[in-house]
Amino acid sequence: MASVTSLSDSVQQQLASALSATVPEAAGADPLLRRSDRADFQANGILALAKKAKANPRELATQVVSQVVTGDVIKEVEVSGPGFLNITITDKAITENLAARYADETGRLGVPSAANPGTTVIDYAQPNVAKEMHVGHLRSAVIGDSAVQLLEFTGENVVRRHHIGDWGTQFGMLIQYLDEHPHELDHKAAQVTGEEAMSNLDRLYKAARKLFDSDEEFKTRARRRVVDLQSGDPHTLAMWQKFVDESKIYFFSVFEKLDMEIRDPDIVGESGYNDMLAETCRLLEESGVAVRSEGALCVFFEDVKGPDGNPVPLIVQKSDGGYGYAATDLSAIRDRVFNLKANTLLYVVDARQGLHFKMVFETARRAGWLNDDVKAFQLAFGTVLGKDGKPFKTREGETVRLVDLLDEAIERASAVVREKAQDLSEEEIAERGAQVGIGAVKYADLSTSAIRDYKFDLDQMVSLNGDTSVYLQYAYARIQSILRKAGEVRPAAHPELALAQAERALGLHVDAFAETVAEAASEYAPHKLAAYLYQLASLYTSFYDKCPVLKAETPEQVENRLFLCDVTARTLHRGMALLGIRTPEKL
Ligand code: ARG
Repeated sequence: MASVTSLSDSVQQQLASALSATVPEAAGADPLLRRSDRADFQANGILALAKKAKANPRELATQVVSQVVTGDVIKEVEVSGPGFLNITITDKAITENLAARYADETGRLGVPSAANPGTTVIDYAQPNVAKEMHVGHLRSAVIGDSAVQLLEFTGENVVRRHHIGDWGTQFGMLIQYLDEHPHELDHKAAQVTGEEAMSNLDRLYKAARKLFDSDEEFKTRARRRVVDLQSGDPHTLAMWQKFVDESKIYFFSVFEKLDMEIRDPDIVGESGYNDMLAETCRLLEESGVAVRSEGALCVFFEDVKGPDGNPVPLIVQKSDGGYGYAATDLSAIRDRVFNLKANTLLYVVDARQGLHFKMVFETARRAGWLNDDVKAFQLAFGTVLGKDGKPFKTREGETVRLVDLLDEAIERASAVVREKAQDLSEEEIAERGAQVGIGAVKYADLSTSAIRDYKFDLDQMVSLNGDTSVYLQYAYARIQSILRKAGEVRPAAHPELALAQAERALGLHVDAFAETVAEAASEYAPHKLAAYLYQLASLYTSFYDKCPVLKAETPEQVENRLFLCDVTARTLHRGMALLGIRTPEKL
């Protein structure tokens, strides 16, 4: 079923044909339609057209107006200012349009599904084996998950890839240490899983690191272990596998706490590309993209220089023959382009890895793996800061464990829910507390543009006033409560009714859902959807203040307002889901 065209789209189309009827050369020109406070919409596109045609913009605008058909949809169109068009929509069109999406059983609320979708591989939620997840891993997971939801909803084929750090020299150190101190993990790991096991692994990691840095002989043994691991020694591999399995159990427990679905087959860590590394290097060397320099295989760039002015290369293979992060990422690109048939590669990774990706992408472009049809993009995100504006640390100066932070958010949110709760059981309070707490953390992350740093401030995040998820969740729950109170009276659209100003503003904003989703998806910008939803909740609040729903004047008006409430709720629910946030029915 074709999706319901939004009002702004139909107005846009009407204006575009009026434009080309007036100035035939202008066929395809964008009338530049925007929502406006003065009328319902304003079109600014005539100014540029007039300039091009060397015509008087106001005169041109007047001619365009004469071509616009007013009536069913457009109530009035007039020229304003230097040659803008102010457009007012009929109340009937607003209600009818919302009614059409309300009736559309696909629940897509006017958002079209791409007819010829591409394939996007999204690399996100990529913690490291044998290390605890910290607040930096939060952003990749939260932003990445929202990008997945947004793109899938627009019809794109999405392949998720969790590029976990599961390979490298540190595993030689870990395995050697554990082999020499078997008691340090075994008796505990046998009984515990998830967070506690991970705590043990993390402690083990720190102990091994300490020994590695202080004991030369251990260092030598650990290095030999790396060679064993790389050459596939069965005992060493089995121990490595144990670390990976243990860590994955822990990752899953954290992702579950984050209310996020991560699927095992999508976890393809660094080790997953081991078989491709030698070939990747051979291809780069043979094509001349990479050259040998002091024994290492390197790629050089005009514009990448160190502080001393000398070029800093991307090292694809070290002089000792070892492969690193770059070789793995280049191999992953080949896999994603040639096996997964991706058109777009999206990397949700900390901005501090920007130079790495710049060099990796440019190398892949030179090798012909990336080109105009297959593009790679780093969705880079900024740092999570503490209240003091410095990178978030515990009082002791250590990195903050993600689980501790999530637990605290849930606890704080549960207190807020409990305070407001009227008819909730303890069990419900716990469930809502988790939904509100995790929602608060996600929303704080998603409501600023990814590249910006933000302060992790739980007081602000769980506040009922302001731009928070709790505010949005309350708006949704309030609507559900009205719908429950309405009992037998069901929402129904009555296009013949005149609308109050607050109803029009709300309706026109609901109408903009499809274009907001399209923009947020194509720009990988969930914050645009968050801003839209916050405004939706605010417009709903003013509607609710000004327009009595159950006590409206006529039974038709009650039904029509219930309908406006419900279509708002569905939009909130869908939009929040695209951000990975729940909307409880009761709060
Ligand atoms: N594991 C890395 C980290 O914790 C992030 C991996 C990003 N993805 C990639 N393809 N390099 O920093």
